[in-house]
Amino acid sequence: MMEEIWKVDPQLAEAICEEIDRQANKLELIASENFASLAVLQAQGCVMTNKYAEGYPGKRYYGGCQWVDVAEDLARERARELFGCDHVNVQPHSGTQANMAVYMAVLEPGDTILAMDLAHGGHLSHGASVNFSGQLYKVVFYGVDRVTETIDFDQVRDLARKHRPRLIVVGASAYPRTIDFAAFREIADEVGAYIMADIAHIAGLVAVGLHPTPIPYCEFVTTTTHKTLRGPRGGMIMCRQEFAQIIDKTVFPGIQGGPLMHVIAAKAVAFKEALSPQFKEYQSQIVRNAAAMAKALQDRGFRLVSGGTDNHLMLVDLRNKGITGKEAEGALEEAAITVNKNMIPFDPQKPFISSGIRIGTPAVTSRGMKETEMVAIGDMIARVLEDPSSEKVKEEVESQVRALCGRFPLYPQLQRECTG
Ligand SMILES: Cc1ncc(COP(=O)(O)O)c(C=O)c1O
Repeated sequence: MMEEIWKVDPQLAEAICEEIDRQANKLELIASENFASLAVLQAQGCVMTNKYAEGYPGKRYYGGCQWVDVAEDLARERARELFGCDHVNVQPHSGTQANMAVYMAVLEPGDTILAMDLAHGGHLSHGASVNFSGQLYKVVFYGVDRVTETIDFDQVRDLARKHRPRLIVVGASAYPRTIDFAAFREIADEVGAYIMADIAHIAGLVAVGLHPTPIPYCEFVTTTTHKTLRGPRGGMIMCRQEFAQIIDKTVFPGIQGGPLMHVIAAKAVAFKEALSPQFKEYQSQIVRNAAAMAKALQDRGFRLVSGGTDNHLMLVDLRNKGITGKEAEGALEEAAITVNKNMIPFDPQKPFISSGIRIGTPAVTSRGMKETEMVAIGDMIARVLEDPSSEKVKEEVESQVRALCGRFPLYPQLQRECTG
């Protein structure tokens, strides 16, 4: 795969090889990242990138679409089977564009959305003031309860009654607990609102039944296809049949031009992988790994937001350790462990500093690591964060990370192409 790039553009080839090396030799704990399979990578790098295919299978604005139609039909059929939804649109270029399409389909500018606060775990595209969603619509935010640190349904109900939103957005980027879609449905019905569930983070868990599905409760379900689903970067919208036409029209020609057919091909591959029995086992391991990591950190005196995790991620409140999220992210990076700083609910720090880090297990699970390795990684994290200025500790942990990564090789074929 790399041979031609080395010939044509050695500068870029070097950057790609360095990135392969980084992914292979560091511990990837960013909860929204994962390692796609070689089959997904190959599909994403295929000639379907050359094809313009505005429209939908069987109804394109260009000739020569018979084979990309096969790819898009496979992706759509498999997604429907995987999630049990009426209709699916696999063309959104990203999760944010999937959300944008739903907003544009059912809202007028100035309409009210009720969504989870970014500072409590929500996503930028759920109405943040710096995002189009916060600029075009009136947004009211719900959050978590101060004590339980789980979604405060009394607040959701009060805000819904007061503001009568046209759309309630359910879903998060940093929420470690199970989401009760049925409870949201009850509130939405009371005030006559639609629901859009954004399951970007938990899609893999939902696909195999490890997290309750939103499909029966929500008119619209959006997701990214990377993250736990382990496909190519991209987005997808599922909806009830009655909204199929408006969703398709809003994606194209509403907000996008030609679909990325190579990415759609890779989505098809990822959905086939996700329909296999191994994928269910993989998702269960992600959850078991997160539980093991959470316990390891708690055993070392770390406080987890909401007291633990039900899914693939956890939020660590670092205040009792006297270190900020920004400092923790930096110290761990020096020890070859990649996490992101993250606001904790009611965080006294500014977003760029923050009091927490978010840790997720999808990527390390993709390389085959299990509970034993999670306990070891939890210890490594604790060692670094308890003594963040010690170069000796960071060096020792870095060599432990290298040894661990060596036991769980990642993309060995691609690494060989880099070393010749
Ligand atoms: C809940 C949620 N929705 C949407 C997105 C946006 O996805 P993208 O980065 O593909 O626009 C993310 C990404 O982190 C997310 O966590």
